[in-house]
Amino acid sequence: MSYPKTNHLMARGAAFLGSEYAILCGAMSWVSERNLVAAISNAGGFGVIACGAMTPELLDAEIAATKTLTTKPFGVNLITMHPQLFELIEVCGRHNVGHVALAGGIPPKGSVEALKAAGAKVLVFAPTLALAKKLLRGGADALVIEGSEAGGHIGPVATSVLAQEMLPALADEYLVFVAGGIGRGEAMAGYLEMGAAGVQLGTRFACATESIAHPDFKKAFFRANARDAVASVQLDPRLPVIPVRALKNKGTEEFTQKQREVGLLLDQGSVDMMEAQLRIEHFWAGALRRAVIDGDIENGSLMAGQSVGMVTEEEPVAAIIDTLLAESEAALTRR
Ligand SMILES: Cc1cc2nc3c(=O)[nH]c(=O)nc-3n(C[C@H](O)[C@H](O)[C@H](O)COP(=O)(O)O)c2cc1C
Repeated sequence: MSYPKTNHLMARGAAFLGSEYAILCGAMSWVSERNLVAAISNAGGFGVIACGAMTPELLDAEIAATKTLTTKPFGVNLITMHPQLFELIEVCGRHNVGHVALAGGIPPKGSVEALKAAGAKVLVFAPTLALAKKLLRGGADALVIEGSEAGGHIGPVATSVLAQEMLPALADEYLVFVAGGIGRGEAMAGYLEMGAAGVQLGTRFACATESIAHPDFKKAFFRANARDAVASVQLDPRLPVIPVRALKNKGTEEFTQKQREVGLLLDQGSVDMMEAQLRIEHFWAGALRRAVIDGDIENGSLMAGQSVGMVTEEEPVAAIIDTLLAESEAALTRR
């Protein structure tokens, strides 16, 4: 199949990524490992390894293993607050990883420079136009804007609004990829027409045939509707809760209860602030792994975006990408 209109709109993004299509599969901790990453890149998209909390040794092994499964380009996503960020950057440099995304906060001083010195192109995330401009002027090569419809850690603003704020201001001069809530090709076409260089999807790919996610994790996705993918709520402003969008389950209910309990202990003076924050942070430690790898869909974290309602069956990555492209092309042809 050929998709001339879509390819035309994706040309800049695809040239930047070195892939056939400017469709990134956003890094998903535990899910975006060698198998899914290689499958995405082999199908013409751009796979990204989720480093998450991996040590430099584990990242080294994951990149090496991915290279045995694909000769196509793929990227690595590093979390900015990782205590060994600069060692992870060195690992990427040693493997000549072409693209690194810095996620989870403002890139620390020297990190963008270190990546560029290692020969990588740098993708950054920014929740506001002012920060986006600062990072792009400061040397980042591309921007990902991610709206609150997305799965995982989210900001407060919807993709549709971020796209209207950011694309007209930035897309002529810079490469901007749009993420969050994209489940079909028509939506992809819409953002491309607004000037996006490409798109990033996570939820739509999480349950692909090639994904190693546990069968029960996948079944939970197939059963879920958009309204089941809810953002975690912060009950007490004293406690650190970064909103995460995930499917409702026993764990999300217990988390609300946990916040109440810890808030009460703080009021009573039976724990100090440090202990309270630790109790909250520990609640979810390992929870995504429990859901994705062990299939504990009751107590684990089922991170998913609102597009989960459009994920109804297990399909190979290549079929998902073909569907997205065909839907996009049909939409662009109708106009
Ligand atoms: C299960 C899951 C885990 C995720 N883990 C990460 C992560 O480790 N790092 C990151 O930058 N984004 C992470 N994300 C966000 C994705 O990379 C991607 O940007 C997002 O899923 C796009 O929105 P969508 O889910 O609406 O397609 C995760 C998303 C999901 C669904």
